[in-house]
Order: sequence, then C-alpha cells, then structure tokens
Amino acid sequence: MSKITRVWSREILDSRAMPTVETVLQLDNGVTTVASVPSGASTGKNEALELRDGDQARYLGKGVLKAVDNVNNKIGPAIVGIDPSNQADMDKKLIELDGSNNKSNLGANAILSVSIANCKAGAIANNLPVYKWVYQLSTAQGAATEGIPTRVPTPIYNMINGGAHGAGNLDFQEFQIIPASSKPYSLALKTGAEVYQHLKNSLIKIGAIHSVGDEGGYAPNLFNNADALGINVEAINSAGFQIGQDFFLGLDVAASHFYKDGSYSIKDRSNSLNSGSLTSFFEDLSKEYRLILLEDPLQEEDWSGWTEVTSKLGDHMMIVGDDLIVTNPERVKKAAQSKACNTALIKPNQIGTVSETLEVIKLARQFGWKIIVSHRSGETNDFFIADFAVGVKSDFVKFGAPARGERVAKYNRLLSIETELSANK
Ligand code: PGA
Ligand code: ZN
Repeated sequence: MSKITRVWSREILDSRAMPTVETVLQLDNGVTTVASVPSGASTGKNEALELRDGDQARYLGKGVLKAVDNVNNKIGPAIVGIDPSNQADMDKKLIELDGSNNKSNLGANAILSVSIANCKAGAIANNLPVYKWVYQLSTAQGAATEGIPTRVPTPIYNMINGGAHGAGNLDFQEFQIIPASSKPYSLALKTGAEVYQHLKNSLIKIGAIHSVGDEGGYAPNLFNNADALGINVEAINSAGFQIGQDFFLGLDVAASHFYKDGSYSIKDRSNSLNSGSLTSFFEDLSKEYRLILLEDPLQEEDWSGWTEVTSKLGDHMMIVGDDLIVTNPERVKKAAQSKACNTALIKPNQIGTVSETLEVIKLARQFGWKIIVSHRSGETNDFFIADFAVGVKSDFVKFGAPARGERVAKYNRLLSIETELSANK
C-alpha cells in the first residue's frame, strides 16, 4: 500500500497564455506525479465552477492563486496519508471538502488537478500504465464495457476553428474531419496530418488566411459556414482520399454562442433563424456533405428543439451533447428522457473529478449512447486525457487539429499506447 505524503500546487500557463493549476502529489516512496487542468472558452453555463481570482491587476482577473491556495492549504493537508489506489474514496473526500453542488468553494480546477494527480499515482502504485489503471477503475465502477482495451479511439480532428476559437468570421466553432474507424490509429493520424497540410494549401490558393485558432485548426475568413465544409472536402480529395470512405465530416456548432434574443444569425442565411429553420439547414448540410456528427446544434436550454434534431437526424448522425449535458449526470438523465441527443461529449473539468466522469460515462452507456472523450480549447501538455480515453474505451477522442504542442502531446501519446496494445496481442 502507498500513501500520499505531500501535495503542492502552482499557477502555470495554458496554451492561450492564461493561468491554470498544476498540482504535484508525492508518495511515501518519493515518487511524484504531476497533473495540470485545461480550460474552455466556449463553456456551457451549467459546468462546474472554474475558480478565477478576479483580481484585475493580475492576468486580467484570470489568475488562479485562490485555487492553488485551496490545494496547498485546504485539500493537501486533508488527503495526506490516503492510499491513491482508492480513487473513489479520494474523489468522495474532495467532493465533501468542497461541499457545494458545483465545486464553487474550492474550484473544479483545484479539485480536478488533485483527482488526476491521484489517478496517476494510483497507476504507479499498481505498476500499471495510466490507461490500464483507468480501465480497472472504470470496471470497478461499472463504467466499462466487457473486455480490456484493445484499440485506440478514433480521432476527430478540428481542421477549421470558428466561433469563440478562431479570429476568422465563421459562426460554427469546429469543422471536423473523422477518419474511418476501421483504420489503425497510426494511419488515421498520418492521413489526418496530410489532409491538414493540403487544407493549408487550399486556403492559400483562395487567398484565405491560414494562421491557426485555439485548437490548432486554421481560422480563415470565408464567405459562409458551408464553404468551410466545402474546403475540408477539397483538402480530403486533394490529399488523395474520399469522403464517405476514408473520411467523414462533423460540426461542433456550439450554437449557444451565436444565439441571441431567441434566434440564431449565421452567415449562410440573410435572415435570422429559429430552432426549426436552423434544424432544416442542418438537414440540408447533412445531405450535401454527408455529415456524421453534429455537436451542440442548438442552444443549451432548447430541450424540445434538441429532441426534434435527434428525431430527424439521429438515425444516421451522432447528435452530440456538450454544452447541453456538460458531463453532468442530471443533465445526461434529462437528455436521455427527452431523447435530446445520442452521443456524450466527456470533459472531466466540466464535472471536476475522475470518478464523477466515470459515472457519467456509465450512465451514457446505459442509455446506449456513443462516447467522445474531449480536451478543452485551453490546454497544457498533460496527456492524461489520452490515457483516460483508452482506459474507458471511448468510441472517439476530440483533441483538436493534429498540430500544436498541446494537441499533439495527446495524439502522440495515443500512438505509443497503440504500439503497446499491438505488442500485447
Ligand atoms: P471549449 O471548446 O473547450 O472552449 O469549451 C470545446 C468544445 O466546445 O467542444
Ligand atoms: Zn463543443
């Protein structure tokens, strides 16, 4: 049995030059683990609370010294002596210490950094790579499907960054390409990177800006959102691949972020749309571009609109709840009851602990949904989320474009896990 002997935390930078929390946890054998937490820009309003200092004299109010102090002086002393193998007990303790229903006392950023550092320590204490340890934890919690992980989840690449993530003029947030799931991950990574390079050339050809947005995808000004789908198709073709065979298309609409006063305004239509006419637009796009994934197609409180989208498009598309369900069990239950979506986007920092994230995965699986484990737009080089995705046997992962250090840290980690898994076969 191992024991935690020391816990300390500090403020570091994320990929957007914003502060975030990094926590170090030390075991009685001297081994340390380190975990840092990501941060969203297009956050759902029902997410657990990310504690920011609000002191305008530092980082425009975005400092995390209070969260760091909470780890150093409130959480740390309370968890010294605990065996990190007991992830469920650790997370229960963290939830109790906080005492609120949205982690608003200690901060979900403070809490998650400790929960993840503990998970990594549990892996070390049990002599396992983190993904195998996560698999054991998810099995113990009833969140896993039968059988040890044998494959790496299919990546969803965010090739064009719009909305809150790109300086260009696109309304939709992510224009995604998804390699066929039958391909080995290493091939999916190679071909995805090739399309990324071809996309750059396609943008240069039309004189569009090819600098990148928060998730490493290009952030051009285009005529409208449909054009961004078209240019992804062109890049796939010019790289020598075929839509519907090698690659499929997806969209994270992130509709809450362009919803105002009861309607949606997008470049593709001269008049503003209600939820019904926006849904018809998605029907058209899905036919023309053979979309297989639609995330947050409507704003996060339009439950009846979501039910309509899922009943119209859900038989051939993943209708993904992100801002809608915010990795929250109550919202997942509500979405299942109202048949509002059929796929869960899973972001540990929306809920705040590893065990609660596993619980949401368990629930989503019970409802027969697909699972996508996701990064955030503000990231660090911590690649825990890659191990986590393999361990829970997620169907897909969403780690941004196959570019920029904080994104490829995760994609490259999946490469090494794939090598390990095939050596074990
Ligand atoms: P966020 O974006 O991390 O800024 O919330 C990611 C997403 O919406 O999926
Ligand atoms: Zn999203």
